[in-house]
Amino acid sequence: MLAGISGCHRGLARLAIAHLAILIEFSFALGFRMGYISFEPVDGRAGSNVVPILEIAEMISLARRLVACFAVGVLAVAFSVGSFAADDKKKDDKKNPTIKEIMKKVPGKEGLVAKTSAAAKVEKWEDAQKLAKQLAEYGEALGKNKPKKGDNDAWATHSKGFADSMTSISEAAEKKDKDAVNDAVKKFGTSCKACHDAHKN
Ligand code: HEC
Repeated sequence: MLAGISGCHRGLARLAIAHLAILIEFSFALGFRMGYISFEPVDGRAGSNVVPILEIAEMISLARRLVACFAVGVLAVAFSVGSFAADDKKKDDKKNPTIKEIMKKVPGKEGLVAKTSAAAKVEKWEDAQKLAKQLAEYGEALGKNKPKKGDNDAWATHSKGFADSMTSISEAAEKKDKDAVNDAVKKFGTSCKACHDAHKN
């Protein structure tokens, strides 16, 4: 989610740069055509007193140039949109943590659940909510994995149970409800064995 937003910003920045480049190119093209910009000294100055007379041929040439610039712009936009979408997708694929990574991060004495629980206990709600948000993300991520052991239906049930635990902790933290955080954390603590029996070697 966060990655998505920052990816979007990067994409927009690229679009802006692409458009700026086109605008500058077009202004130069126009300037040269009309004789406002010249690298040759005119009356001793690199100046602008060349009187432009736009002839039909020049008008057509300018129009062509405009169309060409516009086409380049469209291509640039298509390219940058495409490439940032591809970037985002690559990152998303790479980013989904494995079961093992989630198990190292979420449960345990130093895990995110313990930290969330501790923060809630002393009513550091901002901390608790930040931690719980990560929990909810890990909850969602677990089910995107396939365990090495156990069948798919059992995994669907167990991983949904895990995700639900993470959501209840997160919702309780959002509501600043100490008891609800405590209950959800306790319930999560009783869920380890059934899932490990079914899916852990
Ligand atoms: C939804 C299923 C599920 C639940 C619930 C679950 N686990 Fe796990 N856990 C697994 C699976 C599957 C593995 C094996 C991962 C692997 O080796 O690829 C695992 C592995 C682990 C590991 C070993 C990680 C490592 O470094 O290899 C620990 C520690 C662990 N779990 C702790 C817990 C604790 C504590 C709880 C409960 C508070 C819990 N797990 C709840 C599925 C679950």
